[in-house]
Amino acid sequence: MSDSKVAIVTGASRGIGFAVAEALAKAGYSLAICGTREKTVNAAAEKLSAHGVEVLGRVVNVADGEAVQAFVQEVAKQFGRLDLLVNNAGITRDGLSMRMKGEEWQAVIDTNLSSVFYASQAALKPMMRARGGRIINISSVVASMGNPGQMNYCASKGGVEAMTRSLAREIGSRNITVNAIAPGFIATDMTHELGDDAKAALVAQVPLGRLGTPDDIAAAVLFLAGKSGSYITGQVLHVNGGMYM
Ligand code: NAI
Repeated sequence: MSDSKVAIVTGASRGIGFAVAEALAKAGYSLAICGTREKTVNAAAEKLSAHGVEVLGRVVNVADGEAVQAFVQEVAKQFGRLDLLVNNAGITRDGLSMRMKGEEWQAVIDTNLSSVFYASQAALKPMMRARGGRIINISSVVASMGNPGQMNYCASKGGVEAMTRSLAREIGSRNITVNAIAPGFIATDMTHELGDDAKAALVAQVPLGRLGTPDDIAAAVLFLAGKSGSYITGQVLHVNGGMYM
């Protein structure tokens, strides 16, 4: 069994997931990460290993329930424990509701919402056996605010937050905490696609006057994952520079 704590971060080849994984590596966690492309997953795993921790990188499509469950089971078996699951992988397929295609709806629900169910279910077994664990789901501020053109995405993240509360109530007695973090606008590839004007309009909505960074989210994950988070469960921690209060 691994002497150090073990964390899974889904969608950790870049962006918020990579920053979270890197912060956990610096804190001494052994890591398992997944993403959709072999090259980027391997490159991320190599960078994380440079922090002197064990890292397992796998190509897993989290929208495939069986695949994500097999991944979680493999990690628990290989490391002999699972202390933390960060459900981070997520996509957008934006479009106005009138024109949104069924595939765009389904892809976002499968990737952002159903994946959290499957991964969390698989994580419960090793966590219950160990009489403790942490699950942290990356939601979004738009679950609370709504966003035109993101009916699918907002529904998926709202579902994640409701699932967080439900699971937290169900497994609190097992000393497993379940929380969500709702980032505001964070500078990653996901927001990079926006033009300069759109970005300036976003920043104008943020009292702190800047987009967030992946490290801002990683800090919140470390807070909830560590001793500091022991008595916090079923919550949504907003990290958004004040754009939603
Ligand atoms: P990103 O697009 O930069 O990175 C997404 C990561 O998820 C990548 O590593 C990608 O390979 C992985 N991924 C995507 N689909 C996958 C699948 N089917 N299976 C496995 N891995 C998959 O995104 P970013 O910005 O880092 O977002 C991370 C999370 O934070 C997402 O859940 C997103 O919804 C959420 N978020 C992001 C915000 C932002 O402003 N960037 C704001 C609020 C929430």
